[in-house]
Amino acid sequence: MRADPTAVVRSSASRLPEAIGVGRIFRETEKPLFGLFFGTVANIQILIARSSGGIYTHVVRKASVFQSVRCVFRCMTEWRESGTQTVSEDLTDEANALPAEYFTDPGVLEMENDKVFGQYWVYAGHANCIETPGELFTRTVGDRQLIILRDHDGEIRAFDNVCAHRGSKIVEDTPMTDPASAKRLRCPYHLWTFDLDGELKSTPESFEDARMNPDLHDESVTGFDAEANALNSVHVDRIGPLIFVNLSDDPMPLAEQAGVMKDRLEALPLGEYQHATRIVSEVECNWKVFSSNYSECDHCQANHQDWIKGISLNESELEVNDYHWVLHYTHAQDVDDEMRIHDEHEAQFHYLWPNMTVNMYGTADGYGTYIVDPIDVDRFQLIADYYFRGSKLSDEEREFIRTSRQLQEEDFELVERQWDGLKTGALAQAQLGPNEHTVHRFHQLAQEAYNS
Ligand code: FES
Ligand SMILES: [Fe+2]
Repeated sequence: MRADPTAVVRSSASRLPEAIGVGRIFRETEKPLFGLFFGTVANIQILIARSSGGIYTHVVRKASVFQSVRCVFRCMTEWRESGTQTVSEDLTDEANALPAEYFTDPGVLEMENDKVFGQYWVYAGHANCIETPGELFTRTVGDRQLIILRDHDGEIRAFDNVCAHRGSKIVEDTPMTDPASAKRLRCPYHLWTFDLDGELKSTPESFEDARMNPDLHDESVTGFDAEANALNSVHVDRIGPLIFVNLSDDPMPLAEQAGVMKDRLEALPLGEYQHATRIVSEVECNWKVFSSNYSECDHCQANHQDWIKGISLNESELEVNDYHWVLHYTHAQDVDDEMRIHDEHEAQFHYLWPNMTVNMYGTADGYGTYIVDPIDVDRFQLIADYYFRGSKLSDEEREFIRTSRQLQEEDFELVERQWDGLKTGALAQAQLGPNEHTVHRFHQLAQEAYNS
């Protein structure tokens, strides 16, 4: 059976096991015991013991109390006093979670801006929101703000929102949901003007002669080369209509980072859907706490009771790929298979490292995306966008959004509660369960990025 650790901990005060049980665990573990929990999950009594050798669980049968103790994992929680190790390669090893300091240390975000958001492909927005040449929106990735636009040839381009003259911000903050339109990009400071391909198109007269400079002659003014003074362009690629940007000079291909996610999403008609609604939330915790929460469903039974009515949790599967993992939740039999963009009888929640998700489930023919953007080490923004075929929302599409919002609010409560504990610094390194392999992959990728 799948034990819900939350439920166990909440019932830990019920009573302590009898001495015979503790003695049995001593013989099994051959290590001193640090703690015991005794609780009830789904009417089954469970004993959990922690020792220096690991975590031990025992299902208590009425007729034979404490007959067996099974070591499920050798990994163990590390508390404040202990040293902190890096994430192990194997989920069953010790040190299987990202050390807590990487969630709580104020200096980590600066490192992530460089080594995570500065190195990997990051989702920027949806191409259908900028269908006409000249339409643009801005997107902040790490510590950089970008202009994402469609040029005169219909190509999507991305530039730093920084003027090539003296660094002024060029375009006001412009959300994808309310795009701006411009034939050219004109910096408001000294009116340098750039074409939609980023090249410098024109400068005001005062940049063409030296009339106010007694030390220069007009002949020595050569003008500004269009290409040498262009905006700084940033790598752009797409998965169907989903636009990704990469801030590094020499990125790995998006196809490599997205892997099978790219093939699977491109097999779906994502481009036939239009943006319907955006919900932006600010949440009080480190962004990786939410991403970790999104990536597992061990908390679903206890905390998403409406959601799990429509799925068969025990038949579900969590698939892990290199930079991408998928939560396949098998739909309950009575969920209508027509009400979905893909053919599988399941909800699919795709997570693409570092901070993007694509969500498809059987409440309506549509899909959603999440962007998990850090604001500070202790705060992030969740940007949730929803796409459907028609411009007017049907009852089913409203239900799709309502379901999503309910899941978000339930999860926000959980992650803020987890943050209350994590930020105390008492926990040095967590342990993950056997069905948190998706979380383990996320933590490994973070560690790999930090070590790069
Ligand atoms: S800083 Fe942009 S024109 Fe001068
Ligand atoms: Fe959740």
